[in-house]
Amino acid sequence: MRILSKLQAYMTGRKALLPGALVLSAISTLTGMLPFIFIWLIVRELFTIDTGYAQLRINTYAWWAMGTAIGGVALYFLALTLSHLAAFRVETNMRRQAMQKIVRMPLGFFDKNTSGRIRKIIDDNASITHMFLAHQLPDLAGTILMPLATLVLIFAFDWRLGLACLVPIIIAMILMSLMMGGTGQKFMKSYMNSLEEMNTEAVEYVRGIPVVKVFQQTVFSFKNFHNSIMKYRNMVIKYTRLWEKPMSTYTVVIHGFVFFLVPIAILLIGYSGNYANVLLNLFFYILITPVFGQSIMRSMYLNQALGQAKEAVNRMEELTDVEALPLAENPKNISRYDICFKEVSFSYPGSVQKAVDNLSFNIPAGKTVALVGASGSGKTTIARLVPRFWDAGNGQVCIGETDVKEIAPKELMQHVSFVFQNTKLFKTSLLENIRYGNPSATIEAIERVVDLAQCREIINKLPDGLNTKIGTEGTYLSGGEQQRIALARAILKDAPIVVLDEATAFTDPENEHLIQQALGKLTEGKTVLMIAHRLSSVQNVDSILVIDKGKITEQGTHKELLKKQGMYANMWNEYQKSVQWTIGKEAQYV
Ligand SMILES: Nc1ncnc2c1ncn2[C@@H]1O[C@H](COP(=O)(O)OP(=O)(O)OP(=O)(O)O)[C@@H](O)[C@H]1O
Ligand SMILES: [Mg+2]
Repeated sequence: MRILSKLQAYMTGRKALLPGALVLSAISTLTGMLPFIFIWLIVRELFTIDTGYAQLRINTYAWWAMGTAIGGVALYFLALTLSHLAAFRVETNMRRQAMQKIVRMPLGFFDKNTSGRIRKIIDDNASITHMFLAHQLPDLAGTILMPLATLVLIFAFDWRLGLACLVPIIIAMILMSLMMGGTGQKFMKSYMNSLEEMNTEAVEYVRGIPVVKVFQQTVFSFKNFHNSIMKYRNMVIKYTRLWEKPMSTYTVVIHGFVFFLVPIAILLIGYSGNYANVLLNLFFYILITPVFGQSIMRSMYLNQALGQAKEAVNRMEELTDVEALPLAENPKNISRYDICFKEVSFSYPGSVQKAVDNLSFNIPAGKTVALVGASGSGKTTIARLVPRFWDAGNGQVCIGETDVKEIAPKELMQHVSFVFQNTKLFKTSLLENIRYGNPSATIEAIERVVDLAQCREIINKLPDGLNTKIGTEGTYLSGGEQQRIALARAILKDAPIVVLDEATAFTDPENEHLIQQALGKLTEGKTVLMIAHRLSSVQNVDSILVIDKGKITEQGTHKELLKKQGMYANMWNEYQKSVQWTIGKEAQYV
């Protein structure tokens, strides 16, 4: 029942709603048993010799039977109302708390958890929880009380007939626990696993369709998906077979209870010679036994729902279990804008390899340092430590001698602009997208950065200019164009520190030239940490760090490094060849 207290913890204020729903539903269950007793009383009146008042009593009993039946249903509705109120409250709070936690996550958290995944986890689990609380929980009280109440009733009337009707019920319960426990549970688990596998493969398949089409590999990629479907199919057939015998036995036994009752009744009549009493009780047991069977069935579903709700809450907690970035007790402000890495090491969570390995360097205020190196050498990781996407494991990342961990997050964000490899624009107007850089910017200021970031030509060709909503029909921007808009946003922000991860994607020389110009405007007079994928952009920077496996292997200006004839010189030669190759190739087509 830990799950119930966990859910109750999500209730704010009206903590009484859930217990209230349970109590009401319990009373409704008991009230629901009363009509059976009144009907028994009516039948007893019919069996006994008329004393004159019988008709009157039968009428009264009939009213009571109807009243208690209606009362039971009404109470159940009331219980459902309370449980729905509780469910909405818990669901809303679950979503709210998850979102509150998520906005405090380190930015790196969003690498692994895409917006789609986060939405799915929160949506799915909040709604499973809602279903459980609103619909299944009220039955919990009934499921526990009903068998107890029925047991009492069974022995209150005639214990011999009671025992007889208990036999099929006990057989049914044993069958049920066999199906639910042990092998059944194991099967349930592998069933859930293969269902998940099939879903994943389906998504993989759909996601890979463009690649598959280009490479003409339809058969291979479909194979995995097909295999997962077959596996699921076999699982379901096996699962169904497993239930086949116990389920049919269960159904026969629980519905064939009369076969257990009647022989005993005949024996009892033969033994006591009292027709009326035995028949009367027999009638009662025929009424009451199916009620018991139903409650066993319900408890089975409830068990399943309880398992699902547990799983839902767990998955939600797993998602938000990542430590939020610790906040400094006395956050400091930034007064100087130089960046300093002091023996910084960092490994990604769950990885033993160091992505950044004992790295030290500094960027004096107003200077530009470029990181170059092979793909996977750790450049992006290094850059992301400055705006605290992650915190360094060892060592310190400082801005103006203050550890970034000591700086108030808002202050840090205000002073650092970052433009990353794949920028994201919001599905709103271009104006709003750019204004994100500085919400209080005037329209003139925005127009100015549009020019500085070389975006004028993009805006001019859009139907509503700056007010065009992007991401809607016909207004998608190319990668290079998106990057320029992102640069406009960063220029508008005008932060003294700029962290730049150049786009790796190929852009045409025209676009490249525009982006370079925009970058020039953004980095003017700023402290810049830039990751360069095209060596043409680093020729004039103040210092180049060549990164390999998270370490600096060479350091110096473009000229100094060329003289060294080391790794950088090699990269430069390769780069020159590739540029010539591109130019040569273009010349061929002219
Ligand atoms: N979110 C992540 N979780 C775990 N490991 C990661 C994550 N991001 C990167 N890595 C690993 O860290 C190492 C450094 O990656 P990083 O992205 O910093 O390289 P990079 O130099 O920026 O490469 P590129 O030039 O391709 O952008 C790689 O081995 C990579 O596999
Ligand atoms: Mg990178």
